[in-house]
Amino acid sequence: MRGASDGIVDLRSDTVTRPSAGMREAIARAEVGDDALGDDPTVRALESRVAGILGKPASLFFPSGIMANQTALLLHTTPGTEVVCEASAHLVDWELAGAAANAGVQLRGVASSDGILTAEAVVAAIRPRAAKLQIQTSLISVENTHNAAGGRVVPLATALAIRDAARNHNLPVHMDGARLWNAAEAAGVTERDYAACADTVMVTLSKGLGCPVGSMLAGDEETIDRARVVRRRLGGSMRQSGILAAAGLYALDHNRSRLGEDHVRARRLAELSRSIPGLDVIEPETNIVMFDIARPDMNSVDVTAALEQRGVWMTVFTQRRVRAVTHLDIDDAGIERAAAVLAEVVGEGGRGTHFANRPV
Ligand SMILES: Cc1ncc(COP(=O)(O)O)c(C=O)c1O
Repeated sequence: MRGASDGIVDLRSDTVTRPSAGMREAIARAEVGDDALGDDPTVRALESRVAGILGKPASLFFPSGIMANQTALLLHTTPGTEVVCEASAHLVDWELAGAAANAGVQLRGVASSDGILTAEAVVAAIRPRAAKLQIQTSLISVENTHNAAGGRVVPLATALAIRDAARNHNLPVHMDGARLWNAAEAAGVTERDYAACADTVMVTLSKGLGCPVGSMLAGDEETIDRARVVRRRLGGSMRQSGILAAAGLYALDHNRSRLGEDHVRARRLAELSRSIPGLDVIEPETNIVMFDIARPDMNSVDVTAALEQRGVWMTVFTQRRVRAVTHLDIDDAGIERAAAVLAEVVGEGGRGTHFANRPV
């Protein structure tokens, strides 16, 4: 078994956390029922707790964030329409064309310099209703924090402006808030403030909050009733899932308030790495640090492979971009070690000239 104890610094994602002893105890103690039949009390408790946090009438437990996002597409759109989102959104790059394959919609990716959509850019991308021969816009999707942009936080004012613009055009808004907890922490607002900017909100339990499984989709009662049907159709209705929901309740009690520590560690990693020649560091706002490899003789595969050999694990993001994510299993020593190993691999003296520099 890997983990902090065997010396690996695993920064690939905040999904790699292992349930803590306390969380495992909560799982073991969970009261369960058959959630597909609607009688798992722990799932019920989690759904009403998350709905309360997000200020929505209802929420529904999903096995994954992708399934909850795809469900939102199925709820808000009809086949043959278009969803406006940021060009490097998770929906575009990481959900394996699910929008097309599951919902029969196309994604209109709006390019931005920093991953943050503006209301003006959204309005410009909405198809005029009068243009009868053009595809029609059915949904606006906002990702917060924005993963590929390095965990960027959508300012609350921007999210509100997008909501208002969408309402003016009679369009619903979905928020992909896989890391909404981090966004709220960094922006100093509540998750409820952000959730008020969208008709449906997806939040994940298995990232910064440290659960083994689970995401939630929140919205009004009617929408969540329909979501329950869609979830079942997608194969995502579960049975004694209270054992998973118990981890969610535990995480909300114990792991939500510590997310700021991950942000401090991400900033520390960025700070320590900034002086490494051959590396451009994108300043983190939350728990994601992006490194662009500036050395022409190395690419992101070379760098992550060399890091891995030295016990520091990061993710290939693009040909030249490597991602590191802090989380509750990463401590200060892990951050110092990661920066030192990065310097050894990429900095002067790094063995870049021996790398094949093959395509990612
Ligand atoms: C922004 C965003 N949305 C959705 C997801 C999907 O979540 P899951 O891995 O639980 O399906 C992720 C996962 O990294 C994500 O970063």
